Amino acid sequence: MKIVESIPELRKELSKLAHPIGFVPTMGYLHEGHLSLVRKAREGNPSVVVSIFANPTQFAPEEDLENYPRDIKRDLELLTTEGADVVWIPTVEVMYPEGYQTWVEVESLSTMLEGSFRPTHFRGVTTVVAKLFNAVGPDRAYFGQKDAQQAVVIQQMVRDLNYPIEIVVCSIIREDDGLAMSSRNTYLNENERVAARCLSRGLFQARDAFLSGERRAETLTQIVSDEVKAEELADLQYVSCADPETLVELDGEVKSCLISMAVYIGKTRLIDNIILGVS
Ligand code: PAF
Repeated sequence: MKIVESIPELRKELSKLAHPIGFVPTMGYLHEGHLSLVRKAREGNPSVVVSIFANPTQFAPEEDLENYPRDIKRDLELLTTEGADVVWIPTVEVMYPEGYQTWVEVESLSTMLEGSFRPTHFRGVTTVVAKLFNAVGPDRAYFGQKDAQQAVVIQQMVRDLNYPIEIVVCSIIREDDGLAMSSRNTYLNENERVAARCLSRGLFQARDAFLSGERRAETLTQIVSDEVKAEELADLQYVSCADPETLVELDGEVKSCLISMAVYIGKTRLIDNIILGVS
């Protein structure tokens, strides 16, 4: 496994790889969710490239970039085990050299859901992902369904900018008790970790109601919000029932939907979602 930092070093290693190249962009502190993406990439491609970069432009000043968990040594051990071919770990100077001033923005989709609470977040994501795509030139790129809106925004960017890249969106990986895996789960103390189960409990209750025939958007979101509000340590920021492709908020009877939410458990902001009615 080759570990590179600069773009020339990366290009040199890429020139030795057979196509298709499967690419997994990450911010590091890898967990089973990331590793499931690497495995998917490994299964479908002769070459696998992983990037590790905690991208400052997707964090607002009051968010947790400084405290974002990092453990490069462990990440590299895990990626060796998973058989990644190249790991690119650029510095902030490599990605945003002094004088940097170009941004990639997917306009409307970036303002919805998460975007209405984190107005600069998706501009940071699409800018860095475009730069990573430009440098790596992958044939396929792998993203987790956990960040449902991110996947939709990136698919739109790929269409709009004609990237010849297939975007593969992989299922959410959950802990045994239902909590969606996230690097941010490490911020939770013992009581908060137990409280955090309320997110998936709410979503699974909505799924069960949907499977029993409930189709009203308002009822489905109410089920989730009741479950979260019953948890003392939880503070629901939003729960939405939206079209899974356009992210437009739905009301009345739905055929399929993306139920997504953000919840503060103490100081930690967690997101989770489920898609209903899409096989
Ligand atoms: O999902 C993430 O970890 C990040 O948003 C990504 C796609 C690596 C861009 O920084």
